[in-house]
Amino acid sequence: MLMDISLIKKQADNELALIEKAEDLVLFEKKYLGKQGLIADVFKGLKDLPENERKIAGNQANLLKNELKAVFEQKSKQIYQKRGQTENLVGKIDVSRPVPQKEIGYLHLITQAQRELTDIFKTMGFEVVLGSEIESDWYNFDALNVPKDHPARDMQDTFWLKPESSKMLLRTHTSPMQARYMETHKPPFRIVVPGRVFRNEATDVKHEAQFYQLEGLMVDENISVSSFKAIMAEFLSQYFESKVEVRLRPGYFPFVEPGFEIDAKTKGGGPARRSPKGEGGWLELMGAGMVHPNVFKAAGLQQRTKGKVNFTGFAFGCGIERLAMIKHNIPDLRLFYQNDLRFLKQF
Ligand code: PHE
Repeated sequence: MLMDISLIKKQADNELALIEKAEDLVLFEKKYLGKQGLIADVFKGLKDLPENERKIAGNQANLLKNELKAVFEQKSKQIYQKRGQTENLVGKIDVSRPVPQKEIGYLHLITQAQRELTDIFKTMGFEVVLGSEIESDWYNFDALNVPKDHPARDMQDTFWLKPESSKMLLRTHTSPMQARYMETHKPPFRIVVPGRVFRNEATDVKHEAQFYQLEGLMVDENISVSSFKAIMAEFLSQYFESKVEVRLRPGYFPFVEPGFEIDAKTKGGGPARRSPKGEGGWLELMGAGMVHPNVFKAAGLQQRTKGKVNFTGFAFGCGIERLAMIKHNIPDLRLFYQNDLRFLKQF
């Protein structure tokens, strides 16, 4: 028994001398000082010894235990101190040390653009309203003066929902909200409608099967094309952060009369600088026009009483990604939907 004790002591000293890591120290403690460790075994063995030997062996075992505890504690101090020094934790916690940054999420560029655009319109007294992505063919087409079998339906290739008899579809533009809003509100009003729209089209740098639009509608007494032009110039100048000139060209949309294509150009900076292509720097931006009398009629609004026109209005619809592409010089619409962080993190 006494032999065992001195052997254990020797072995423990050797092992301890080699230990450098806290993890090994834990194992060492378990092996020697643990409940089922070697020293506990020695104590358990005492009862089998003859009376006289037991006393001596017991003393030795106690000595060994205390010694091991002492060297073990000394060693742990050394090891933890070393570790603490590298972690700067000994004696103080360095409260000025920068905390590792957690990555937090932020808004997708489309959402950012959508909010920038609607914020601009809010400053001009427009209300922001939302429509539904699933629409009936009535609101998407008929109420907007596009009767069944009218060739204009082909301008927007549509995803129809099943069964086809339901006549439900994924809205191809945000214009249905013109009809819905006018059904439940009386002029004057001014609204913008941001939202996702869907078209059954092949994708390329300028086209996706889904994209975002911002619809605008303003109806009041004496709303004219020049009111519209002024509001567009103001809105685009604010969004592109430089003075924008607006040009109207004739364009066809069944729900407006007259209908326009809106071109824009800036003096230095803005769309013109970013797209030197178009004629003299003009860039085609969106469709628009004066609200067609049939659209007012379908919504139940009486535009004339006794031959007198009570109100007129303008409407426009622009692609949100398209505006963001021009502003940020983004070459391909598909980038918005690929969720590549190398792209997204730039905005
Ligand atoms: N809804 C049309 C489109 O998606 C755009 C538009 C809106 C045109 C309002 C005129 C008036 O192409």
